[in-house]
Order: sequence, then structure tokens, then C-alpha cells
Amino acid sequence: MALLFAQRLQVPVVMTDLDQARVDKGLAYAHAEIDKMAAKGRVNGDKANRLKGLITGSVTKEAFADADFVIEAVFEDMKVKQQVFAEVEQVVREDCVLATNTSSLSVTEMASGLKHPERVVGFHFFNPVAVMPLLEIVRAEQTDDPTLATAFVVGKSLKKSSVLVKDAPAFVVNRLLTRFLGEVTTAYDEGTPFEVADRALDPLGLPMSPFTLLQLVGPAVAYHVSETMHEAYPDRFYVSANLKKIVEAGKTAIWTYDSGTPEIDPEVAELFEQGDAPLSEEQVRDRALTALAQETQLMLDEGVVAEAQDIDLCMLLGAGWPFHLGGITPYLDRSGVSEKVNGKRFLPAGVASLP
Ligand code: CAA
Repeated sequence: MALLFAQRLQVPVVMTDLDQARVDKGLAYAHAEIDKMAAKGRVNGDKANRLKGLITGSVTKEAFADADFVIEAVFEDMKVKQQVFAEVEQVVREDCVLATNTSSLSVTEMASGLKHPERVVGFHFFNPVAVMPLLEIVRAEQTDDPTLATAFVVGKSLKKSSVLVKDAPAFVVNRLLTRFLGEVTTAYDEGTPFEVADRALDPLGLPMSPFTLLQLVGPAVAYHVSETMHEAYPDRFYVSANLKKIVEAGKTAIWTYDSGTPEIDPEVAELFEQGDAPLSEEQVRDRALTALAQETQLMLDEGVVAEAQDIDLCMLLGAGWPFHLGGITPYLDRSGVSEKVNGKRFLPAGVASLP
């Protein structure tokens, strides 16, 4: 995120962290990404040096005193995020916007203890931040119009496509990803072989298999999001017992490619436990698609976004779903899943080339 702001807005960016070692690690990562861009010929030596000079680090939040826009991306824990915002509010100017990159927590609750909750807005990026074009902009209950308008202008200047979403648990992309990944990990937990569960969604043409995506997001983030979702909607969202185990053991990788084909990392395999009720690929896919159709309809009923096309756009730009299939709702309509699950289609005939 620091690199994106420096590169697109050409403004100084300061990153803070708990201690100097963490700050240095963050800076080294940003600098290494700039070196990679230089090696690809995307920026020349001068530009690379200028970009590196724009990104600095600090262990104190005083560094935000003259900031226009502060974005928090700390651990997914409401209390920690509230505390960070309270500290930042002591330091920043009256007109500074406070943005949160939370994956699933309530932006309204996060802002509730502040003197000026009206300047807090959700600003949710997708991994890898440099690549995925989507930004979910979350209007919390107190967010005022100038803050929201600023968030949209900043999003556009960052060359992202912004979609306005309601302050509902996990917003759009993470709600759908968590729902269908929950079905896949549960199928594994119940006894479905890893490779069967992992390739069950291949016909959808997604850029990554479910377990690869879990690894990209990071098991800890995926686990915390699934906890938030389970709390909000216990009937539909599961917390995988196996995911919990590997997070508690501090594992960041789930599978390895060492043998030439993807397989569960042997250390992770030792921690995992499976039941004895395996599903076939088709059954896993059916469960996942049924879950997606149900959740998409519920999101529209709750007004999380204005219309079905917003959900399609979010999945295309935030999760890399195949453009040529038009998004998730045309897929569910074409395959007949929408009618089976909800008794109706999402889109009328003719939209997104639907017959
Ligand atoms: N960091 C920076 N750049 C990266 C990168 C990374 N981790 N991974 C890939 N890239 C860059 C590559 O360098 C390459 O750039 P150039 O064209 O400049 O060389 C470009 O992305 C394309 O890379 P590849 O050709 O290697 O990869 P690909 O075509 O297989 O696409 C992908 C890679 C974009 C990640 C694709 O697999 C994809 O879209 N996956 C789905 C990702 C997804 O669902 N993200 C959302 C997760 S949910 C989330 O993040 C929210 C949350 O709150 C948890």
C-alpha cells in the first residue's frame, strides 16, 4: 500500500510499526519491490531512487502530524484497531481522513469511540495490492460526504476501481470468498481428499485454486475473517478446525510444490485431522455454488451493494474471476444454480449475454 500511494500519488508516505525491526522489514519490502520494478524496466534508476526516498518509516505516530490521509492495516482485532485510531486521532489535523483496510470488521464500531467518527471510512484493498484493481469503499454509519468523496478521489488517483459497499461483515469479496472457501475446507475436514477438494471449482475458471488462495491471503487472516463471519452468521459460515490448528501452530503455508505437484506441506499434514465422509468433486462444487447463490441473494436483500452487477464487478476485479464469463451472477444464472437455490435468476435474459 505504501508503494502504491508513493507511486501513484507521488507523495511522501510514512509507515509506522511497533518497533524499529518491524519498520525496517516493511521498508526493505517496499524497496525490494521498487528494485523489481527497476529490473523489469518499469522505472528508471532516478525514479526508483525518488520512490524509495518518498517512503520512510517511524516508530512513533507523531510522524502523522501533517498527514492528509492515514490508513491502518494492523492486526484484525477490533480493540487493537480502535486503540490505533484513538492514538492517531491525538496527532493528526482536523481535516485528515482516517481509513481502515479491515477485511471484515465493522467500520462503524471501529470509529465509535473517536471524537470525529465522521472522518473514518473503509478502504479495502485485495492481495496482491499492486495487481488487483478493486477497492471496496465502505460508508460507515457516521462517515460524512466529504470523507466519502475524498476516498473515491484517492481511489481513482491510485488507479483502482472503487465500489461503494455497506458496512456489513466482510463487505462483498471476502464474504463470498469466505463462504465458498468455508464449504471447500469443511469438505476437506469431513474427509474429502485434498486434491479433490482443491480442484472441485476448476470449471469456474478461477485464477487460483481454493487452497492456493488461502495461502495467498494467509491462514491467519482467513481464520480471523471466518471467525467474524461465523459470529455474524453462525448458520452459514464455518470456522475450520484444521485452519485453526495451523494458525495456532504459526504456519503460514498450507501446501508445497516441492515434489512437482501441489500437496499438503508434510508438517501441516501432521496437524490436520479428517473425518471419514468424503465428497466427490461434483458434490463439493455443488455445495460451494449453492452457498454462493444463497449468499449473493442475501447480500442483495440486505443492500450491501446497489445491484447484482456490483457483486460481479467486485469478484472480477477483486478476486480475478474470469472476465469472459461475466462475473458470478451470470455464471449462477447460466448454470441454473440461481433458480434451483433462490427460485429466480439474478439478471434478466440479454444482460451479460445471458440467453
Ligand atoms: N506482489 C506484487 N506483484 C505480484 C504479486 C505479488 N504478490 N503476484 C503477482 N504479481 C504481479 C507479477 O509480478 C506480474 O506483474 P508484471 O505483469 O508486471 O510482471 C503480474 O502480477 C501478473 O503475475 P503472474 O503473471 O505471475 O500471475 P498470474 O497471471 O497468474 O496472476 C494473480 C496472479 C493476479 C495473483 C491471479 O492469480 C489472481 O488474480 N488471483 C486471485 C487473487 C485474489 O483472489 N485476491 C483476493 C484475495 S482476498 C483479499 O486479499 C482481501 C482480504 O482482505 C484478505
